[in-house]
Formats: sequence, C-alpha cells, structure tokens
Amino acid sequence: MRVYLDNNATTIVDPHVFAEMEPFFVQNYGNPNSLHSFASDTHPAIKQAMEKIYAGIHAPREDSVIVTSCATESNNWVLKSIYFQYILTGRKNHIMISEVEHPSIIATAKFLESMGCRVTYLPINHEGLIDAQTVRDNITDKTALVSIMWANNETGAIFPVEEIGDICGEYNVLFHTDAVQAIGKTPVDVQSFNVDYLTFSAHKFHGPKGVGALYMKKGKELIPLLHGGSQMGGYRSGTLNVPGIVGMGKAMEQAIDSLDFEMSDVREMRDAFEDELLKIEDTFVVTPREKRTPNTILISFRGIEGESMLWDLNRAGIGASTGSACASEDLEASSV
Ligand SMILES: Cc1ncc(COP(=O)(O)O)c(C=O)c1O
Repeated sequence: MRVYLDNNATTIVDPHVFAEMEPFFVQNYGNPNSLHSFASDTHPAIKQAMEKIYAGIHAPREDSVIVTSCATESNNWVLKSIYFQYILTGRKNHIMISEVEHPSIIATAKFLESMGCRVTYLPINHEGLIDAQTVRDNITDKTALVSIMWANNETGAIFPVEEIGDICGEYNVLFHTDAVQAIGKTPVDVQSFNVDYLTFSAHKFHGPKGVGALYMKKGKELIPLLHGGSQMGGYRSGTLNVPGIVGMGKAMEQAIDSLDFEMSDVREMRDAFEDELLKIEDTFVVTPREKRTPNTILISFRGIEGESMLWDLNRAGIGASTGSACASEDLEASSV
C-alpha cells in the first residue's frame, strides 16, 4: 500500500471534478470565442463554473476573478504589475512580503529588487507566525504593496491576513494574499476584510493542474499579462482553458461543501496522527495546532537529515515533503 502525505504539494483530482471536465475535451471542444454552436455550447458551463468560483471566495460580481495557469503565474503577475504601475513610474519604491512566502513570491520580489525596488522581508516568530504589528511598523509613504500568504504551505500556519489587510487599508497600501493553502481549509471571504488581490490554484483543492486564478477588487488595476485577444477582460489573452475552468468551478464548490468536514474530521485525524508522531523521542512541532490549517503537520526529528528520511519513507511507500515542492531540487534548508 502506498500512503500519500503530500496534499499541500498537490491533491488527487476528485472523480466528480474529472467527470464534469471530460466532455469539454472530447465533445464540447469548441473555442468559446468562435461564432458557432461548438463555441456557444461551452458558454453555460463556463458561466456556471465562474459563478461557483466567485461564490467560493464570496466575491461580488463587480470584482474580477481572472483565470490563470497556476498560482505561480498569479503571484508573479500581481508583483510585476505593481512594479510597472508604481515603482517604474517613480510613484512608490517599496513592497513588503514575509520571509516565508512561496518561492513564486520570494523569487519575484528578489527580481524586482534587482530592478531597483526596495523589499522588506518580514520575519516570523518562534511559532512560525507573523505579528501584524510588524506590517504597520514597516509601512512607509512609499510602500506600494504588502503581500502576505494566508496559510503557509510547509507549516500550515495561518497568518493574520484580516488584520494585515485592515492595516494596509488604513495606510492606503495595496494588499495581496496568496490563499493557495487556505481554500477548502479555512473560510475565505473577500468581503469580510480589506483585500485587493488574492491568489489560488485548483490543483490544491482536488481540481486539475494548470489552472488557477487572481482575484482583483473593483477599482484596482493590473497591467495586462498577455496581450492579444480580449479574453479575461483583456487582462490575460489566450483561448480559455474550458476543461480547466469547469474543473476549478466544480472543485471550488466541493471544497466549500466539505469545509466543515475538513475543519472537524480531518483536523481530528491529523491531531491523532500528530499525537502518535510526538511519542517518538526528540520530535517537536513549531506552530500550535489551533493556529494551523487542519490538514498540516510540520514535525522535526532532531538529528535526522530530512532528505534521507524522505528516501526511507519513499522506500516504504510513503510520500511526504521537507519543503515546498517548487524548491525540492534545492537541498538547502527551507526558509521556513
Ligand atoms: C502557498 C503557495 N503558493 C503558490 C504555490 C504555487 O502553486 P502552483 O503550483 O499553482 O503554481 C503553491 C504550491 O505549492 C503554494 O503552496
């Protein structure tokens, strides 16, 4: 038997999600922008899927949800767009992220640094958490954007995004959150606090790989990512990924429907498993359970090298990770 313990890297596509997607590969394969019935046959499913996606994050219709190819794209896009809008034009010169963001934020911030942008990397405390006060302490009148993830992919630590968003609102600074690890694990409601941009990715909540999204509040701006056609309101041209959109819609609906199960049953199973692991000598966890997403355990085994343990676990048929999958070819310790 093989055991999969790497759901923060990716999840299995739910069979119901796959079933909804399938017709859009082999029957309703028309380009939605064409002018015949092969095209119009795809429209109801796209509309329905987008409604489910909007509903999943409580986005009102006047806001935008732009479908992308993944969260890495959404994260790169929002930071680079801020660079074009604010840094390059000299209006502002500073962005703020945490030191434990996903590599798609950290590497993009480092790239912008090389282009002249000042970047503050906020530290985490001994529990792997961020103190919202550090955001307030580091904002200047030149700060264009704060980007802090909702939940960390390695520790599961849930960051105080509501509080941070409200601080950003107070200072008129744009706020982006990478909510990849939050969807389906904790309630996500973009109307319940101040947030301008929000990233998510379908393959983290039992949807297909190759489809994600960037939410943008009404009245905010993005530099178009892909020029060409008029798809996605002209922000991201290219023929729509119809099966991907349909799959993300269904996966979002199911993620929201199973949120209670995740927060109760999955949490219980996680806690029981963690209790057993902690009986092993010289083990410890960093972030307290109640401050973590319900599915995540980051456990340290003192004196044991992570990579060698992964090999041993793999030989025993157990898939786990020591860090972000996107940095797994890099044997350096993760910043988390
Ligand atoms: C917090 C976080 N952000 C972004 C990503 C990137 O997601 P994608 O694979 O859709 O590019 C991941 C995936 O590991 C993640 O965990």
